[in-house]
Amino acid sequence: MSAEGAQAGIPPVRRRFREGTTAAELKAYMTPFVAVLGYKFNTDEEFVRLVLEGELEVLAQTGDIYCPCRIRTGDPKEDVRIVCPCIPFHRSQFAGMRKCWCGLFIRADVDDGSELLGVIEEPEGPVEVPVARAGDMRDGEARRVTIGKRDIAVFRVDGEFFALSNVCRHAFAPLSEGFMDGYTVMCPWHGWRYDVRDGTTDHPDSDVKSYPVAVRDGEVFVTV
Ligand code: SF4
Ligand code: FES
Repeated sequence: MSAEGAQAGIPPVRRRFREGTTAAELKAYMTPFVAVLGYKFNTDEEFVRLVLEGELEVLAQTGDIYCPCRIRTGDPKEDVRIVCPCIPFHRSQFAGMRKCWCGLFIRADVDDGSELLGVIEEPEGPVEVPVARAGDMRDGEARRVTIGKRDIAVFRVDGEFFALSNVCRHAFAPLSEGFMDGYTVMCPWHGWRYDVRDGTTDHPDSDVKSYPVAVRDGEVFVTV
């Protein structure tokens, strides 16, 4: 799967690995993939080695890199949710936990991943979810992201970032495919206009939800 696919929330295509794949090859494959999702490998290298070896054992048994810590159902559609890295499927939970279930991956803004080993509680309340590298989006660009079940459009205008529900209130077109003009996005289907700063439109009772956005260390976070 491409990095763009991961970013757009498109479910990952299962990739089969050949027999004899090494931990170093897995690591090299996963590193750019998880980077666009705002994650990196745990800083505890011994722990990473152990988990990757677990994945390689599963690979030898099943032909795919299922999570070593979770139980497969045998239904490929269900089990694709635990092919590693499974971050796109569990994005909102992992964002709050600041790591994936296993701790193989931690959020890019965590310095010491060893502090998070063994933490499995999901937080309550709002969570900040990394959605893009600031430098990966140009001014006037919009990008679709999914966080849990939420369909969100992220916009960049004059170096600032904004996030709205991606669903136009007229006939549900994706606003991330709309046309940008300054702080306005025009719906691609019938031209309704929304202010990307707050989701307002001049159609009565039709504003779309806006989400708080923060940028830290070159990473864009949306709070849901
Ligand atoms: S929980 Fe972590 S180690 Fe397990 S499949 Fe997901 S990303 Fe991989
Ligand atoms: S669907 Fe957006 S204007 Fe019609």
